[in-house]
Amino acid sequence: MTTQELRQLLSELSLEEKIGQLVQMPAYFQSGGHITGPAGEMGITNDDLRLAGSYLSIVGAADVEKLQREYMANHPHHIPLIFMADIINGYRTVFPIPLAQGCTFQPELAEEGARIAAKEAAASGVHVTFSPMADLVRDARWGRVMESTGEDKYLNGLMAAAMVRGYQGADLKEKGRIAACLKHFAGYGAPEGGRDYNTVELSPRTLREDYLPAYQAAIDAGCEMVMTSFNTLDRVPSTANRWLMRDILRGEMGFDSVLISDWGAVMELIPHGVAADFAQAAELAIRAGVDMDMSSPCYTHELKRLVEEGKVPEALIDESCWRVLALKNRLGLFENPFRDLSRDDEAALLLCAEHRAAAQRCAENSFVLLKNDDQALPLASDAKVAFIGPYVDSHLTSGAWSIFCDDTDAITLRTALRQRGVPDERFAVGCPIVAPGETILGFQKDYPLPEIDAEQALADAVALAKSSDQVVLALGEHREHTGESASRGQIALPDCQLRLLDAVAEVNPNITVVLYCGRPMDLRALQDKAKAILVVWMPGTEGGPAIARTLYGDCAPSGRLSMAFPWCVAQLPMHYDQLSTGRPYHGDHRAIRISSKYLDMPNRPLYPFGFGLTYTTFAYSGVALSADKLTRGGEITASVRVTNTGDRPGTETVQLYLRDLVGSVARPVRELKGFRRVTLRPGESADVAFAITEEQLRFYDINMDFVSEPGGFEVFIGPDSASENKATFRLV
Ligand code: GLC
Repeated sequence: MTTQELRQLLSELSLEEKIGQLVQMPAYFQSGGHITGPAGEMGITNDDLRLAGSYLSIVGAADVEKLQREYMANHPHHIPLIFMADIINGYRTVFPIPLAQGCTFQPELAEEGARIAAKEAAASGVHVTFSPMADLVRDARWGRVMESTGEDKYLNGLMAAAMVRGYQGADLKEKGRIAACLKHFAGYGAPEGGRDYNTVELSPRTLREDYLPAYQAAIDAGCEMVMTSFNTLDRVPSTANRWLMRDILRGEMGFDSVLISDWGAVMELIPHGVAADFAQAAELAIRAGVDMDMSSPCYTHELKRLVEEGKVPEALIDESCWRVLALKNRLGLFENPFRDLSRDDEAALLLCAEHRAAAQRCAENSFVLLKNDDQALPLASDAKVAFIGPYVDSHLTSGAWSIFCDDTDAITLRTALRQRGVPDERFAVGCPIVAPGETILGFQKDYPLPEIDAEQALADAVALAKSSDQVVLALGEHREHTGESASRGQIALPDCQLRLLDAVAEVNPNITVVLYCGRPMDLRALQDKAKAILVVWMPGTEGGPAIARTLYGDCAPSGRLSMAFPWCVAQLPMHYDQLSTGRPYHGDHRAIRISSKYLDMPNRPLYPFGFGLTYTTFAYSGVALSADKLTRGGEITASVRVTNTGDRPGTETVQLYLRDLVGSVARPVRELKGFRRVTLRPGESADVAFAITEEQLRFYDINMDFVSEPGGFEVFIGPDSASENKATFRLV
């Protein structure tokens, strides 16, 4: 439709029809002609469904086509529905969780994964995905760190923009493209206590400096939607926060498309204590500029009366309805309400070999090798290896938001190893994934846990370990112990798995742990017992083959931590780009009494942001600068020579960090400003150079102006955020 035709359509709509476009209903509540489940409790009626302009979580070419056809036939102006779903790390072909994708330090892999997810989802009738999640995360207690790409705003921004490009491409009407919905705006990743949905307290400066940049990158990449976050900011729930949504998001950040609430977040203004009823909640949200009410009755039940009583200007309804119609128009839904849905394409695309290969490549690049003493890895092809642990046979290796796949699509570690010829007698489960008797209350599904004879399983595992040269322990947290509503106060492995580790270590010291997790975990119990630790996160459909290839050296791990592994949970929240404080300490916490430290544990994490090993080693020269003064508009170059000092080829992610030594406000001890992957043969060297410009030195100064200030800076170039390989320069 042309803009003029769309304006004409808007002018012809009744008030009920316009409000209907602002309502998104979750997967079709109707079963047998009556409302069931939560919708029934919310008082949703069939009439509400008749005009609701969007559905959530309805996928599949056949179902979408049927519903679209019925809806348009019954709609007074035959406006098409817009279908949205959570395609977070793949649709049917599941990629590693976003936290793992961040570890690749390769936005191009995230873009490829999003591109593939879009192709598959579009064939199944999806128009919009609720991704990328660009929330900065610093607290591994929060279950949703698995959906973020980590603790660094620069890396998160690159990843979020890459995902938007992957989903949307250059032309939304191009076949196999879907619209991206950035979330959760804003600051959702900083809940107090790491407890999901909890209060967020961020100063305006910290919000702008640390939390907004990744959202801005997604907006600059053209994301078509933004979703509000559940949390309060400065005691105002985001979904009612006019300052955050109209002044910041639309005013300062330039977002001018559809803003949707999170699930029920309009209605939740009542338990937040800022709305007394559905009517007040609806008024607060529409005034804040929330265009669509996801899965709540507030807009559909209250907005009409609020307009008729003069409490809400109809102009606000028109503004929001226009944005929704314009998005439907950019998606081409008026010309083709069925867009790319196609049973044939579904059959051809979902889980196709090309997509599986890309998922495996992404998984292989996301693994992080934290430890590899005595070169425990890679395994020798003729070594007698025992593969033990609850994850040896688990299909639950696709992240908590992998809700449109079949879990059995995932290739288990045992299957992948058996395909390489590892005999069946080399495997043992060892222990249950969680304590016997524990039940897993899933977010999207429930999980009957396999019944095993724990004592016998342990005995069998110990016997196998005793008769083997090496042991690979496949351990990890249950998938449903990560994700939404899955915050945890303890982030160590379950006791039953630690008992297995201890029992195996008694009979065989050559242990490699393959760790499946959705968050950084407390690994202290593993440190002294495992010679090697390979973090594989939740690796997705092709996790098994990717792990097998990595264990046997067909490929070498090259991932670098997108989020630090803390020494223990008590250190949280933590992040490498912290402030110095007035009493920084740098040494042994027993030596200096008066400094910012703990008496009973170190400040530093167990493994810092950016850390990761591979099957070779690298040496760095000192940092060379092309000049020690940088002028505004000028550029200097910082470079190092990196040498592969081992006997295998390997890939290093060289990282550039800058520190502003004196600012009108306190500045972080360092900030990531660039990275480069280099692959080197044994003995080979490469010069890696980074351009440094004045723009990279800007920050929100004492007056909240985004500027750089003259003075001294340190340049760090090294393998991770703890590197002290540095030089200094001045901005003049
Ligand atoms: C959930 C999540 C959000 C998701 C939405 C729709 O509660 O917070 O990330 O996109 O509801 O499922």
